[in-house]
Amino acid sequence: MATLGLIGAGNIGGALARAALGQGWDVVLSNSRGPETLSDLVTELGPNARAATPAEAAAAGDLVVVTIPTKAIGGVPVEPLAGKVVIDTNNYYPQRDGQIAELDDESTTVSELLQHHLPTSKVVKAFNHIYFQNIGDAARPAGDPDRLALAIAGDDAEAKTAVAAFIDSIGFDVVDAGPLAEGWRYQRDTPAYVAPFDAPALREKLAEAKRYRDM
Ligand SMILES: NC(=O)c1ccc[n+]([C@@H]2O[C@H](COP(=O)([O-])OP(=O)(O)OC[C@H]3O[C@@H](n4cnc5c(N)ncnc54)[C@H](OP(=O)(O)O)[C@@H]3O)[C@@H](O)[C@H]2O)c1
Repeated sequence: MATLGLIGAGNIGGALARAALGQGWDVVLSNSRGPETLSDLVTELGPNARAATPAEAAAAGDLVVVTIPTKAIGGVPVEPLAGKVVIDTNNYYPQRDGQIAELDDESTTVSELLQHHLPTSKVVKAFNHIYFQNIGDAARPAGDPDRLALAIAGDDAEAKTAVAAFIDSIGFDVVDAGPLAEGWRYQRDTPAYVAPFDAPALREKLAEAKRYRDM
């Protein structure tokens, strides 16, 4: 039995928790306000879900998801995530996150910022370009003609394999967009962003993507 740790238990955290529980994972959810504020959600999710602090969720996870506003990544616990595969779902919305200079000048990308904060973790960018409700609603078994694809990017091949297996298990094909530095190809306002595509179409949309400075 594997455990999915979640740092962030909002729209995406809740949807990924449900998806993982459906595949037999245990889940440990956390947020900024404390485990007691997650009691309704944990009750709804059932006996294989529990709430904890972010550090405890990080320590408990065989796979850990960071799914919080990008402005909050500086508070993600570093030591309990050492050596672990960490999925980053985050997007940059200046109206929510404030201006982040390195993202505004495109000298880095959202997931590279998290990787920089977690130097010994293996960050994989995933689930940032799907509307949260579609994680459950659009899931289809392998081979289904309506199956959609999700992109991944990361610098560690084994980590990407693990995340791809997780994505496949919860109902989506996977398209490898390359190293973490290529994650901008499905960031906010790109053709692949929050739009449903199968794998061949998603590859096309990733190839068509432009940097903000070239839009
Ligand atoms: N909504 C979507 O469809 C969607 C799709 C793809 C990607 N995303 C991106 O994924 C991320 C999460 O989105 P969301 O819609 O799930 O957001 P959300 O519903 O607003 O939930 C955010 C979660 O992050 C927690 N959080 C905030 N600061 C934290 C901190 N310092 N430590 C631990 N937890 C913290 C919040 O806890 P508290 O409530 O206790 O503060 C809450 O549980 C965002 O970057 C978003 O842009 C969203």
